[in-house]
Amino acid sequence: MDNVRVAVIGLGGVAQLVHLPNLSKIPYVEIRSVAEVKASRLNSVADKFNIKERYKDYNELLEKSEIDAVIISTPTALHKNIAIDCLNAKKDILIEKPVAPSYNDAIVIQQTAKKNNCKVMVGMNLRFRPDTMLLKTLIQSGEIGEPFYAKSVWIRRKSSEEKWFQKREEAGGGVIMDLGISLVDLSLSLIGYPGVKSVQAQNYYQNNNQLEETSINFIRCSDSKLINIETSWALPVENDVFQLSVFGSKGNVTSSPLNLYKKINNRVVELKPSLSDSPSQLFKKSYLNELKSFVGAVKGLNPIFSSIDKAVDGMKVIDALYLSAKKNKEISIK
Ligand SMILES: NC(=O)c1ccc[n+]([C@@H]2O[C@H](COP(=O)([O-])OP(=O)(O)OC[C@H]3O[C@@H](n4cnc5c(N)ncnc54)[C@H](O)[C@@H]3O)[C@@H](O)[C@H]2O)c1
Repeated sequence: MDNVRVAVIGLGGVAQLVHLPNLSKIPYVEIRSVAEVKASRLNSVADKFNIKERYKDYNELLEKSEIDAVIISTPTALHKNIAIDCLNAKKDILIEKPVAPSYNDAIVIQQTAKKNNCKVMVGMNLRFRPDTMLLKTLIQSGEIGEPFYAKSVWIRRKSSEEKWFQKREEAGGGVIMDLGISLVDLSLSLIGYPGVKSVQAQNYYQNNNQLEETSINFIRCSDSKLINIETSWALPVENDVFQLSVFGSKGNVTSSPLNLYKKINNRVVELKPSLSDSPSQLFKKSYLNELKSFVGAVKGLNPIFSSIDKAVDGMKVIDALYLSAKKNKEISIK
């Protein structure tokens, strides 16, 4: 295969700000076609990125356009049906996160991918930040011993102000679905995917009584491993906060600032791995790395990272977190 021919379905915020500009930077990618239900947006975005094949109906795109892969960046409630149609048309897909509003929907996507033997990646861009990739390499090379506790805080504005994003049935939820889901995915990946045994969540509704705006989560895993996540759209902070630490039997690693602390001869030694990127560069680079990884997987050069299987496992945890917040008790996961 030479160039990877990619289509993008849904030309809103994330497609315009992230996917189309980044796809344009990858030399072996051709953005062959786009689909968008809003005609004026379809034409203005396709003109801007010089894309000739444009469709209002994504099914027509799947029928007529000669493509290898599709990026699905529509509102979350539409992911399942669009993914099923793409997979039945034998296309590899990158679905924006959250993969779907519920665990059951995610399972249907997983089963359809298996039936059609297609690749599915879910857009967990936090995994592709240069700093989190470095943390993962340090952990995997044994620098902190056996990791047992991952703690993270993410406070920022909402990812979208669109109407669908404010409705539970369309977005799937509030800040847990927007920010928490990515931290669940990243934390599990960093501590080596121990089985999740139970979860506990406390949600706060500061300005909006439909969607949680702050959430504190505990995720108990096998071998006494623990994940603690705090996310918020509403806590008053001057700038966005993104902090992540992983503690192990021999030391710990933190992002922002990037640090590795190790016990050597009973003394704590601080080692500062160097990365020159600013916080906003780290975030921006994550999306380019994610897309390079996806097209590399489509070409068969690398495996799929953040696969549909991992997304399904993550959605099981997310569904349990919502149940825990609703029932105000710890929920076991089988
Ligand atoms: N990874 C991230 O950091 C990140 C950031 C923002 C959004 N997202 C996710 O990306 C997805 C899209 O979010 P967004 O903010 O771009 O939403 P958006 O509402 O800005 O854009 C969605 C677009 O899809 C179009 N659309 C709706 N139905 C369609 C259909 N049947 N066919 C073709 N186009 C259709 C809409 O008209 C709109 O232009 C969501 O799942 C969201 O959760 C991820």
